[in-house]
Amino acid sequence: MSIGSLLILPGDGIGPEVMAEVKRIIDWFGEKRDLTFDVSEDLVGGAAYDAHGTPLHDDTMAKAQEVDAVLLGAVGGPKYDVLDFSVKPERGLLRLRKEMDLFSNLRPAQCFDALADFSSLKRDVIAGLDIMIVRELTSGVYFGEPRGIFTENNERVGINTQRYTESEIDRVARSAFELAMKRGKRLCSMEKANVMESGILWREVVTEVAKDYPEVELSHMYADAGGMQLARWPKQFDVIVTDNLFGDLLSDVAAMLTGSLGMLPSASLGLPMANGRPKALYEPVHGSAPDIAGQGKANPIACILSFSMALRYSFDLGAEADRLEKAIEDVLADGVRTADLLGQEGVTPVSTSGMGDAILAKLDASL
Ligand code: IPM
Ligand code: MG
Repeated sequence: MSIGSLLILPGDGIGPEVMAEVKRIIDWFGEKRDLTFDVSEDLVGGAAYDAHGTPLHDDTMAKAQEVDAVLLGAVGGPKYDVLDFSVKPERGLLRLRKEMDLFSNLRPAQCFDALADFSSLKRDVIAGLDIMIVRELTSGVYFGEPRGIFTENNERVGINTQRYTESEIDRVARSAFELAMKRGKRLCSMEKANVMESGILWREVVTEVAKDYPEVELSHMYADAGGMQLARWPKQFDVIVTDNLFGDLLSDVAAMLTGSLGMLPSASLGLPMANGRPKALYEPVHGSAPDIAGQGKANPIACILSFSMALRYSFDLGAEADRLEKAIEDVLADGVRTADLLGQEGVTPVSTSGMGDAILAKLDASL
């Protein structure tokens, strides 16, 4: 019996290659754990533009609204740089986020012990790092109106608007407090209340929501100081909650701390559907890496870990997610490396599918 539906959108660049490994993992869970998913596949980004002249076809959008979880590879590539802004590959992704109302974006930054030396920071600053950034994903300056390029006094002016309603702040704050309750019970909220009214309101609403979570220790930080503290001593943080734009920046900083962008997954969650599962989209933090696309060099781990987040957050299969994450940890401990993780002398990199093979072997061994 199928335990739920998945829509796979491999997208562009390395997306299809890394997603191919995820499909093998999904098959493994069906064969060896009797956990089968109802899987369908479709196009997004440049691939959708090539086929339909739009980065996300309406039929694909409709399908995404129906399934339990969407798994996305990556979108974009130099070939599409010349396209009009309205049909750029990224617009497909932004439409999915907005129309599915995926307001809570979970971006973990975890340091795998075997990779601690890849960080630009010293080992003791980074070893054991495990933080979670909760980024608001459907509002703020990414979507605020007015926006556009206008003419004023004979010159052009580019305008974007930072805008947050109380309810938008309230719901993302609650999702962050809920996560903090399941983790280290510490939450740091980041904004710029010293310069922005939206930041003042953000701080007020988060402080109000905190009354419902007395066990969670809440702190506030200006987002620029937050970036500095992330680089100085990241282990001071457990969960961070912040807006769409600051979250975009801070999650890239946090990702790079771990030394391996090719390792980091993300989950974007919305409101519960009729079956109680949240609307959900899972994707690696890395992009489409057009420079290495099609060469079997890409690291599939971020995409596989994104599926692991789906097991945990959409299908309530935390123990199976642990099994998959442990398999990945073991593979890394054995010294198996894709090309992005080289550094040590004498290590020959494995291909994308070679990494998939190694993870599947560890999964078999876990039974
Ligand atoms: C991200 C990306 C996207 C964003 C782009 C591709 C639109 O940078 O998911 O972090 O800015 O949100
Ligand atoms: Mg980004």
